[in-house]
Amino acid sequence: MEEIERVALEEIEKAQTPEELREIEVRYLGKKGKITEQLKGLGALEPEKRRERGMALNRAKQVITEALERQSKRIVELQALREARIDPTLPGIRPQVGHIHPLSLVLEEVMDIFHRLGYYVMDFYEVETEYYNFEALNIPKDHPARDLQDTFYLEDGFLLRTHTSAGQTRAMRLLPPPFRAVFPGKVFRFEATDASHEHTFHQLEGLMIDRHVSVAHLLSAMMTLLTAIFGKDVGVRLRPGYFPFVEPGFELDIHCSVCEGRGCSVCKHSGFVEFLGCGLVHPNVIRAGGLDPREWEGWAFGIGLSRLVMMRYKVSDIRWLLSGDLRFVRQF
Ligand code: FA5
Repeated sequence: MEEIERVALEEIEKAQTPEELREIEVRYLGKKGKITEQLKGLGALEPEKRRERGMALNRAKQVITEALERQSKRIVELQALREARIDPTLPGIRPQVGHIHPLSLVLEEVMDIFHRLGYYVMDFYEVETEYYNFEALNIPKDHPARDLQDTFYLEDGFLLRTHTSAGQTRAMRLLPPPFRAVFPGKVFRFEATDASHEHTFHQLEGLMIDRHVSVAHLLSAMMTLLTAIFGKDVGVRLRPGYFPFVEPGFELDIHCSVCEGRGCSVCKHSGFVEFLGCGLVHPNVIRAGGLDPREWEGWAFGIGLSRLVMMRYKVSDIRWLLSGDLRFVRQF
């Protein structure tokens, strides 16, 4: 009996499929199975032997039944594991990581340059008053820049700043002169858009206040700045420019790197892109900043930061920058 039991258990353990198990069950416990046959033969034995043998047979039957159940469970579990198996040779799925927006990339780089040159970095308001955006900057009430076509007016006399120059007199009132400061930010204009004009774009204002400031200082500062930003000589074009808050005023264009000067929709086929406005701070603005123009002078510039990003990465349409289109941002 022990031998039958041992062999049966061995066979059960080796079984790999429910069919194999079923076949073993039939072989031992089925109608003509080994154990069943023995049970049938019990009647022919003497009562004493019958009892002894009967007990041994029932025990064997129980041991085999339990072993069959255990193995059946194991086979089901193995089958489930096999179906959900992990193939470590398959290539992994790379998790999506965020991308730094090109505007932030360039801004960080430029801020680093100004920081090293000893500038304060300041942050002013996107919602401004007419006073700081216009009046303090010597822009009289009837100036065309105040036209409804250019400015987004809000309720209660507020507006969306049209340029970062709105921070000029705020900076003068905050910092003791002499000082130099930059203040980057988003500006808004109610105007038609094209490849190089957006209604919402980024500027970077620079302001220096000191004694005895000249155009030579301004131009030398602009050249230092351009070399630091581009890291190489770039073709520039300096023109006189009119801004009520500077005198004299200039506009600086840079060589269009989108088309390498051949002409494209960004530079309107001129080979140059309007990059910044600058000049010596007007005495009226110095006064509005709470300083005495007989003692203090200064220069200021306003860079089109969005244009800088376009030139740096050869972006052929400014509208991509704030489009929120992930196909664009994922390239950086
Ligand atoms: C100004 O905004 C003056 N505040 C700049 C200034 C500051 C002059 C300090 C003197 C002293 P302007 O409107 O030209 O000027 O804009 C400055 C720069 O912003 C332009 O040279 C251009 O690079 C960029 N810019 C202007 N309009 C747009 C626009 N719609 N979309 C994208 N960039 C623009």
